[in-house]
Amino acid sequence: MRGVSSRRIEWLLGRACVKDALRRYLMEQHQQHWAATDIPIWTDDSGKPHALGAWQDRTRETVDISIAHTTGLVAAAIAVNGRIGIDLERLGRDLSDDFSRSVFTSEEQELAAQSGEGHAALMRFWCGKEALAKALGTGIRYSPSDLRVRAIDIGTGRLELELAGQWLDAFRPLRGRTLPVNTSPIEDHILATCVIPSALLPPP
Ligand SMILES: CC(C)(COP(=O)(O)OP(=O)(O)OC[C@H]1O[C@@H](n2cnc3c(N)ncnc32)[C@H](O)[C@@H]1OP(=O)(O)O)[C@@H](O)C(=O)NCCC(=O)NCCS
Repeated sequence: MRGVSSRRIEWLLGRACVKDALRRYLMEQHQQHWAATDIPIWTDDSGKPHALGAWQDRTRETVDISIAHTTGLVAAAIAVNGRIGIDLERLGRDLSDDFSRSVFTSEEQELAAQSGEGHAALMRFWCGKEALAKALGTGIRYSPSDLRVRAIDIGTGRLELELAGQWLDAFRPLRGRTLPVNTSPIEDHILATCVIPSALLPPP
């Protein structure tokens, strides 16, 4: 793998972390012991990771995985019979005006201001958009301003997002749906988690 060593370490730790999450699930829910080497992680053309291996023949479920990292922090999660996307962002990250204008609609900027959280709410929104884009499996392939935050509950950190524009053309079953994304603070970061049940969108 090319690139700086910190990136290689992030890449490895993300895989170690997601293998552990899946091994723990297989042990706790299926009483099956699998080694980390039994769970190869394959990356598709859009960058999305997938867990492979013989364990798949021993469960009736489909399992989706997601990985996120920032400097010094790695997170991974799995979802059973659904799609999952997680994202981590440093709360203190500076959002330039140009960036904000390109990723947030004026309604979202208004919603963040009304929430009383200001910048922290915008970080939740950005993190939520990336988590949703990962759950969809595309990453930010189309305009992030078309992954629209419609509501925020400051008490629980829950956001409601809706697809618009090219996202809707690509994911027609999600037309007219709002999708919940949970956001929570963790070690000076925001962690966003989006799960899309297989009833709404088939597993990847
Ligand atoms: C993919 C994207 C959402 C990642 O977000 P980020 O905040 O930059 O970085 P994070 O650390 O949170 O996430 C990186 C992880 O997301 C996962 N990921 C990458 N693409 C993904 C996708 N299409 N769907 C789901 N997960 C994806 C990977 O596991 C990756 O880590 P890894 O390469 O070590 O396995 C974002 O970079 C993006 O969409 N970029 C635009 C599209 C792009 O450049 N894609 C690269 C294709 S190779």
